[in-house]
Amino acid sequence: MKVGIIGGTGGMGEGFAVRWAIHHEIIIGSRDIDKAKNAAALYTNAASSAFGTGMKGNITGSDNVSLASVVDVLILSIPYDSIQYTCSSISGKIGSNCIVVSPIVPMNRTESGFVYVPFEETKRSAAAVVAENLPNNIIVSAFHTISEVKLKNINESLDSDTFVCCDDQNTLAVLNTLISEISGLRSIYLGPLSLSYQAEALTPMILNASKRNKIKHPGIKLVS
Ligand SMILES: NC(=O)c1ccc[n+]([C@@H]2O[C@H](COP(=O)([O-])OP(=O)(O)OC[C@H]3O[C@@H](n4cnc5c(N)ncnc54)[C@H](OP(=O)(O)O)[C@@H]3O)[C@@H](O)[C@H]2O)c1
Repeated sequence: MKVGIIGGTGGMGEGFAVRWAIHHEIIIGSRDIDKAKNAAALYTNAASSAFGTGMKGNITGSDNVSLASVVDVLILSIPYDSIQYTCSSISGKIGSNCIVVSPIVPMNRTESGFVYVPFEETKRSAAAVVAENLPNNIIVSAFHTISEVKLKNINESLDSDTFVCCDDQNTLAVLNTLISEISGLRSIYLGPLSLSYQAEALTPMILNASKRNKIKHPGIKLVS
């Protein structure tokens, strides 16, 4: 598959790229093409050192807008406040079959701790804002509670779950394949995209608990 990562120069983008490069063609996106190319070169080194000749995919760099028209899966690895601007720059250029993935968590730090912005400021979930701005694509939300530090460490198993929200079962199946390729990560289907706020709101909760109890890079796992 061709997987494009808009905002791929950030920590989450790096983690996705190095994990998926074993099988897929990854395109790192940035507002600055040179920044994207430099990041792609660094990630390629990390992935080839880890996978050696087992690496069947590759990592290249591009600007955000160009990559949007050529990928099968598009990860929006950008801050909440930049959703509208970014989506308007790529809307109409994305193929109609392209799956758009939102790992975006609208979160602020206050005196009490980390808070979920839509609850504090009566705003919409990140997934809802993405869907509103890209009405011709199927949106799936996932990866909100993944630690960037663990994701970037190719040799580490995540040993955690990720909640996934989506309105289309075929799209869910494609995303589940990508999730299953990240060592130790299990997909838990939460429901339609309208429930994405439930998954997004877990991240500030985990970070507050993590900081106050000195738990490093925690994730979430359902047990039965
Ligand atoms: N970090 C985590 O552990 C974690 C965990 C779960 C979910 N998330 C979510 O995943 C997403 C990515 O996380 P991250 O930590 O990688 O984010 P980040 O480092 O803050 O940003 C990622 C990239 O977004 C681009 N960007 C920044 N401001 C922008 C703007 N105003 N307009 C357009 N692009 C902009 C930048 O790329 P260029 O400058 O190259 O364009 C940046 O490298 C976020 O929504 C975050 O909430 C993060």
